[in-house]
Amino acid sequence: MAMIVSIGSGKGGVGKSVIAANLSMLLAKQGKRVVLADLDVGGADAHILFGMLNPPRTLTDFVERRVERLEDVLQQVSAQAIPWRRPIFPMPKKSG
Ligand SMILES: Nc1ncnc2c1ncn2[C@@H]1O[C@H](COP(=O)(O)OP(=O)(O)O)[C@@H](O)[C@H]1O
Ligand SMILES: [Mg+2]
Repeated sequence: MAMIVSIGSGKGGVGKSVIAANLSMLLAKQGKRVVLADLDVGGADAHILFGMLNPPRTLTDFVERRVERLEDVLQQVSAQAIPWRRPIFPMPKKSG
């Protein structure tokens, strides 16, 4: 039977996406089929934690009816830890 786990807070930047991403990965590694939906319409970023900087479709495509079904915006990702080879954002060079 499907189970829904909601992770929320009254303010941003407190770690919702990080907790949700890690929980999703742990459950997937246990063999569960997991759908992680970042419903922060102003600043969803869970996709970045899975190494996907520009997802081809987002929840906005469903809300604005560019796709018919919610499933159409799902992106498959690996449950393996992301092997970062470089910073996601350019880091300022250290001087001196
Ligand atoms: N347990 C933690 N320890 C240190 N930094 C964290 C932790 N959880 C989240 N962060 C950092 O805090 C920032 C906000 O986390 P995020 O999960 O995006 O917050 P939210 O989804 O609530 O807006 C990110 O830069 C993230 O890397
Ligand atoms: Mg978030």
